[in-house]
Amino acid sequence: MWPLASHHSFKINNYASDVFNVTSVAEARSVANLDNYLILGEGTNTLFIDNYDGVIVKSCITGISYEEKKSGWHIRVGAQENWHDFVVWTLTKNICGLENLVLIPGSVGAAPVQNIGAYGVEVSQYIQSVEAVHIDTGESHTIANTECEFSYRDSIFKKNPRSWLITHVNFNISKAWQPNLSYPALADLNNQTSISARAIADAVTAIRSSKLPNPNEIPNAGSFFKNPVVSAERYQQLIEDFPNLIAFEVGGDYKLAAGWLIEQLGLKGTCCGDCCVHDKQALVLVNRGNATGDNVLALCRLIQQRVEQRFGVILEPEVRMIGRNGLIDDITKYQRS
Ligand code: EPU
Repeated sequence: MWPLASHHSFKINNYASDVFNVTSVAEARSVANLDNYLILGEGTNTLFIDNYDGVIVKSCITGISYEEKKSGWHIRVGAQENWHDFVVWTLTKNICGLENLVLIPGSVGAAPVQNIGAYGVEVSQYIQSVEAVHIDTGESHTIANTECEFSYRDSIFKKNPRSWLITHVNFNISKAWQPNLSYPALADLNNQTSISARAIADAVTAIRSSKLPNPNEIPNAGSFFKNPVVSAERYQQLIEDFPNLIAFEVGGDYKLAAGWLIEQLGLKGTCCGDCCVHDKQALVLVNRGNATGDNVLALCRLIQQRVEQRFGVILEPEVRMIGRNGLIDDITKYQRS
């Protein structure tokens, strides 16, 4: 049995059958021989609701190499490198572009899986390609950005969680840097005469630290739910009933701020056992110490029901929830054994 508590940031005391550390592309090819397996990075977006009857596979490939070209940089990064450390490394080299994504927990290999994003930027904007081993065939592939099917917190890797073991991520970062201050919380920086990537990183660090709990201090898995996307028509109906509704237009549809919906229901600070809605950001659930899988399921369902009753909107978990047999498809139906 392999204890999972220190391998996922929500830190529930559950166990996997075993672990397999992949340190080379050659080793990645033998994952196909495992019966039941789950690929895990730093576990900052994964929550083990139950013991897991299978082997945890970890990509332990590290290293950063880079090449400066006339128009920008090409950077190849091993999957196990820490995302935040990598962003800081780019800034020390005066490579600008990833600064809005500073302080996101997790590994570089996990970044493309759910197309991490924050403060107006998604990582897919900077990924040139992803190197991964196709587990069934054992073949190495370099998957171009356009083939990764990136969208909001989604990719080909997330849609096919047992198919690909990511070994490296290739970034293309242009020298024609443009600060991205589109997110309302960063708009104040527009008033400055000159703005640096470092200043943006500092501002993002300050905002994140003020409302998002540090997983090393208060166990959590970041945003627990996705921000739901509704049609323009549905949005118009909602805004009539809830004039203060916070939403952002995305390609004709509207992405609703799920944290706002949950806060309106007075659920900040609500707990089921030791699993609680964070008191500064309602989209984040925290483990106050001894949360169990049942506590998480109960709080998740309570929030989903209350949001649906009041707003007619269904919240889907953003966190990858893992049960006894692996990824849980429908959290509303899962029963712990
Ligand atoms: N809001 C509330 N109450 C709350 C939380 C949010 O009213 O309790 C309001 C805020 O005031 C703001 C709006 O909702 O007007 C959006 O909130 P915020 O800027 O905190 O961002 P979010 O939509 O809740 C998303 C990402 C975060 C990312 C931030 C910043 C998702 C699921 N989450 O959260 O990503 O850091 O934007 O870009 O898209 C993560 O994925 O784990 C994560 C933390």
